[in-house]
Amino acid sequence: MTICHRTVIFIGILTLISTQITSGSVVSTGDFNKDFFVTWSPSHVNTSADGKTRSLKLDQESGSGFASNQMFLFGQIDMQIKLVPGRSAGTVLTSDQPNRDEIDFEFLGNVEGKPYIVQTNIFADGLDNREERINLWFDPTKDFHTYSILWNLHQIVFMVDWVPIRVYRNHADNGVGYPRWQPMSIKTSLWNGDSWATGGGRDKIDWSKGPFISSFRYHKIDACIWKGNARFCRAESPTNWWHQKRYSTLTNTQRRLFKWVRKYHMIYDYCQDKQRFQGNLPKECSLPKY
Ligand SMILES: *[C@@H]1O[C@H](CO)[C@@H](O)[C@H](O)[C@H]1NC(C)=O
Repeated sequence: MTICHRTVIFIGILTLISTQITSGSVVSTGDFNKDFFVTWSPSHVNTSADGKTRSLKLDQESGSGFASNQMFLFGQIDMQIKLVPGRSAGTVLTSDQPNRDEIDFEFLGNVEGKPYIVQTNIFADGLDNREERINLWFDPTKDFHTYSILWNLHQIVFMVDWVPIRVYRNHADNGVGYPRWQPMSIKTSLWNGDSWATGGGRDKIDWSKGPFISSFRYHKIDACIWKGNARFCRAESPTNWWHQKRYSTLTNTQRRLFKWVRKYHMIYDYCQDKQRFQGNLPKECSLPKY
């Protein structure tokens, strides 16, 4: 799988909010041992006795990772993550079909003193990379923060502490790729991305500072579990709340926050990379985000 190149993050939960909205569709138990299995190097994975916190380790021997037991088609995923100083970690929503769909939240570790970079990416209908990168407005290694992905029939919204940092609208009617048929699983991993992730691969891991550990807690998966029937997950229903009209576009408050992020924290937008696309920017770049 492509995980070695794309760590995506799903994300976190604001505990207060998440415990107050006890909607009937939360399908995670809150226990990492029940909701996920270790995909890579069990010796590099620790889970707290109550199952609510998990940490991943990267050392010279190996990275590590875990993935959801179930697959999902639409929903919202939150996870609180505390990043390792200076390394790559992330969570990815990915399908293993040949025609890969993927919604990625990736953390690109950085050299000390420079802000952390969060990269988001979307693969849909076999289409290519659509990366955006932002600098975080806080140090993600100091505390846990909540990283979320809302994925419905109308839009995909990436959020950091509930601030929308990216919106990808469903413009499938206009021929733009959008993940909407294939279920995806949630994958999280911590790995050595120094060959490409930071400074274009110039900055290498300083192993003397290791081992590198990232922690995850309070995951919340409020999503439609895939049972082989796309129609069930695509239907608007009280359980599938994420398809409702109020989640079909950003609210006014969300738009304000989103504009703030783009103005002050965005460092790369594939839609502005004319050189890369030789003047032919992807179609969605000229279509509205909300
Ligand atoms: C797990 O716990 C052991 C013992 O405390 C520690 O040495 C190791 O680094 C921890 N690993 C992770 C991934 O947190």
